[in-house]
Amino acid sequence: MDMNALRDGWLRAIAAASDDKALAEVEARLFGGKGEVLELVRSVTALPKEERPAFGKAANGVKQEVEQALTAARDRFVAATTAKELQATDFDPTEPGPRLPRGTLHPITIVQNELVDLFTSLGFQWQDGPEVESEYFNFDALNIPGDHPARESQDTFWLTDKNLLRTHTSPVQVRTLQRATKNGFQPPLKVIVPGRCFRSETVDKSHEHTFYQMEGLVVDRVHGDQGVSTANLIHTMKTCLRVILERDLQVRLRPGFFPFVEPGFELDVNCPFCSGKGCSVCKQSGWIEVLPCGMVHPNVLRQGGLDPEEYTGFAFGMGLQRVVMLRYGIDDIRQFMGGNTRFLQQFPEVSR
Ligand code: DAH
Repeated sequence: MDMNALRDGWLRAIAAASDDKALAEVEARLFGGKGEVLELVRSVTALPKEERPAFGKAANGVKQEVEQALTAARDRFVAATTAKELQATDFDPTEPGPRLPRGTLHPITIVQNELVDLFTSLGFQWQDGPEVESEYFNFDALNIPGDHPARESQDTFWLTDKNLLRTHTSPVQVRTLQRATKNGFQPPLKVIVPGRCFRSETVDKSHEHTFYQMEGLVVDRVHGDQGVSTANLIHTMKTCLRVILERDLQVRLRPGFFPFVEPGFELDVNCPFCSGKGCSVCKQSGWIEVLPCGMVHPNVLRQGGLDPEEYTGFAFGMGLQRVVMLRYGIDDIRQFMGGNTRFLQQFPEVSR
C-alpha cells in the first residue's frame, strides 16, 4: 500500500470540494464510521509486531496532515461566507458598540479624591483607621477623659468591650503618632485621614448619623524657637479650600474648643453664595463655618510618644459633606445617603 498516494488522493479531494456541503461529505468519507483515514490508522493491528511502530508513526503523520487540510478548508469557507454576508448588509464591524449606562462616582467620593490628590501633592500621606474604634483612641488619647463634657456632644454608638463606632477621624491622629514613634519618628509627619464616622444623631437637613470627615495632622520638630505655627495652618487650609471650592476666598479664625487642640479654632470662609454680602445660607453674617482646627494639644503629642517641648503640630477635621454641599450648592444632607439616583446622576464624573 502506498501511503503517500493515499494521502495525495485525500488532499486532492479536500481541495476539490467546492463548498462546505461537499467538504462535509469528504470529511465523512475520511473520518466517519469506516472512514478511510481511520481505517488506515487501524490497519496497523494486522501487521507483524516489528513493523508496527514505523507504520503507526507514518499513518498518524498522514492523519494529522489530512486533518489540518480539512480545518484550513473549513476556515476558508467560513471566512468567505462571513464576507459575503457582511457585503449584503450595512453592518460596520468597526463601529463601536452601544454605550451602556455607567455608574458615576458619588459626589463625596469626587471631592474626597480631589482632596487626596491635593494633599498628596503637598507631601501628605493617606492613613486609614478602623471604623470600630476603642474608647481609648476615640476619647481618652485625645484628652477627653471619661467624665469630660465633650463626650456628651458626640452621641456615640457604643458596642461591647468599650468599643464604639468612631465618632470622628481624630483617633487616627494618635494611632499614626504611636506607629511613627515606634518605628523611629522621622519628622515632618504629614497625614490625611479620609473616613466614615458615626453618631447617634436625629437625622434632619443638616445632620446624619453616618458622615464623612477628613482629618489632617502635621507634626514637626521645633527648630530654635520656630515650631509648626498657626500661620502654617491657615496657609494650608486656604490652599485646600481655594482648590475645592473653586474660588478665591477669605478665611477667618474664631476660637473653638476641642480638647485635643490648644488653641482650637473654627475656620470660616466668606459665604460663596453671596460673596460675603449676607444671605439666608450664611444667616446674613457673610461667613460660613467650614472647618474646626487647631494646634495639637501637648497631651495628644505625649500619647503619641512625643515630647511636646520638642515637637509641635496642627490638626484639622473637615466635614466632607459640608464641603460638598458648599461646592455644589446642595441644601439637604439627607440627599447623600438617600439612594435617589436622579440626585446622584448630576455628578457625571466617571470612575478613574
Ligand atoms: N474631631 C472633631 C469633631 O469631629 C473635629 C476636629 C476639631 C478635628 C479640631 C481636628 C481639630 O483635628 O483640630 O468634632
